[in-house]
Parts: sequence; structure tokens; C-alpha cells
Amino acid sequence: MKIFKSDQIKPLTMVMIAVFLFASAGTKVIASEHPTIDQDKSTVLITGSNRGIGLALAQNYAEQGWNVIATCRKPNRAAELASLKKEYSNVNIEQLDVTSQEQIVALAKKYNGIPIDVLLNNAGILGEVKDQVFGALNEQTFEQVFAVNTLAPLKVSEAFIEHVSMSQQKKIVSMTSGLGSMQITANQSYFYFYRMSKAALNMAVVAMNASLRKQGIISALIAPGQVDTKLLAESGYRGPNKITPDESAKSLINIIDTLSQETLKENGNKAINVDERVLPW
Ligand SMILES: NC(=O)c1ccc[n+]([C@@H]2O[C@H](COP(=O)([O-])OP(=O)(O)OC[C@H]3O[C@@H](n4cnc5c(N)ncnc54)[C@H](OP(=O)(O)O)[C@@H]3O)[C@@H](O)[C@H]2O)c1
Repeated sequence: MKIFKSDQIKPLTMVMIAVFLFASAGTKVIASEHPTIDQDKSTVLITGSNRGIGLALAQNYAEQGWNVIATCRKPNRAAELASLKKEYSNVNIEQLDVTSQEQIVALAKKYNGIPIDVLLNNAGILGEVKDQVFGALNEQTFEQVFAVNTLAPLKVSEAFIEHVSMSQQKKIVSMTSGLGSMQITANQSYFYFYRMSKAALNMAVVAMNASLRKQGIISALIAPGQVDTKLLAESGYRGPNKITPDESAKSLINIIDTLSQETLKENGNKAINVDERVLPW
């Protein structure tokens, strides 16, 4: 599988490429401008895939033979993704700051015509902890946390809806948290914005499902458990019962595999936790 930049290709070379593409029409390889996608395989796009749970999801999907569109803010600093791409040619590393509408639209355009089976809204931030305490609530932190955790999954989903719609699995999966559950956190007085942003994300995902299910698209919530990542460290959590990103990703992929409108209905659209428990609102 080759990647070509059209402006670097001379006319004679273009003829040769055309002959090659025609001759290899049976090999089922889509060669767009840059991406390396095998159309016989399912495709996942993951946001925030340079570290933590997103990276583990990219690794596990790649191991399972999927085409992976691994997006991150700074591809030139994503060393683990670069190694993954060396091992699995169907891993595509793409720049995407999920708060940049310009980048979202440009990436959707670049992948025009390529089906995306699972769109995984994983990128998330906790936000400055000291700014999320009653008495010191900081407006700027509120805006940052909501921009990444709540608005971005909607905007990314809007931009890639055609790609998901033309795929076989047609799944938009967004990463929530037990901290977005009113029932679970009723007696907790910290992380105001993070908790609010995930509760609002839950509503957004349910609304998207209502908008999209007529097109056969599923919009669902998953929650990764307490996972040993930078985000968890920032929360100040030092206790036991952490799982590794790899453990979380493996279970989440199994859960995503089983998602359907029927399972959503059974669970009242609620998030499925990594241990397969249904999280309360
Ligand atoms: N860890 C847990 O225990 C836990 C529990 C419940 C839910 N979650 C959720 O799981 C998801 C992944 O979290 P994690 O634990 O893996 O955290 P993490 O290790 O801190 O990773 C967060 C990822 O999000 C990316 N990100 C942040 N802002 C972004 C932006 N504007 N555009 C694109 N990417 C951005 C980060 O990229 P950079 O490297 O560029 O910052 C990083 O790749 C989040 O949605 C989080 O809320 C985690």
C-alpha cells in the first residue's frame, strides 16, 4: 500500500499509478491522498490516542487487524503511535485538536468517502482541580473543560456523520465517567466542571442517538473504570483498584462490539462501564 501526494507526481508516473490501481482493483485497498485503509477491514477513528486509554484502544484495535485513524494534537510528539504505525501499516496518525473546528472539518474532508465503523470520542480533560471547588469556580476552566469533554464529541460526530453512515457497524461511542453520574457522586463536592461536563455529554449522546437511529446509527456511552493514566494522577487519586489502560481498552472493545439499538433500549441508553455494569444517571 502506497501513499502519494498528488502535487509530487509527474504525468508519466500518474499513468503508471492508474494502470497499477486498475490492475490491482481486486486487492481491496483504498488509497486516498494519504490514508492507508484496507476496505476489507473495519475502521475506527479515535480522538486523543497518543496516550492513556486512547493509545491502548489504538493498540488493541490495530492488533485486531482494524484500520485505525489515530488522532492526536501533536503527531510529531506521539512516539508510541509512531512505533505502532511501524508495526501495523493500517494505522494512520492524524492531527486533531478536538476544539478546533477547522481541524475537524479538514480531517473529515481528507477521509471523504472512507467508511468509519466506530467513531470513538475519547479525548478528555479533567481541568485544573483547584478551579472546580465551590467558592473558587473559574470561568475559563469551565469553558475549557466543556469545550473538550462536551462540545467536541458533538462537533466531531457531526463532521464524520457521512463516514459513519456509509460503514457497516455505524457506531459513535463516547467516553463518559462514573463522575458524570448524579447517583454515584451525590455526596462528592469536588471536580464540579468535569462532573458537569460528563453529565452534559451523557445528554448529548442520548440526543444524538434519537437524531441518528433512523439512519441506522448508534450513539452510545461507555465508561473506562478507574484507569492508571495522567488524568487519574491529576485527580490526586493514589488509592488501589486501578486498572491499566490495556485492561480497560480490551474490555471496552468487547463492549463496543456488542452495542446495538436493542442493548441501548435494554439499558435505558445509560453508559456501560468497563466491568459491563450499567451506570446510573
Ligand atoms: N483515567 C480514568 O480513570 C478515567 C475515568 C473515567 C473516564 N475517563 C475518560 O477517558 C478518556 C481518556 O482519558 P485518559 O484517562 O486516557 O486521560 P489522559 O491519559 O490524560 O489522556 C487524555 C487524552 O485526551 C487528549 N486531549 C486532551 N485535550 C485534547 C484536545 N483539545 N484535542 C485532542 N485531544 C485532546 C490528550 O492529548 P494531549 O496529550 O495532547 O494532552 C490525551 O491523548 C477521557 O474522556 C476521560 O474523561 C478516564
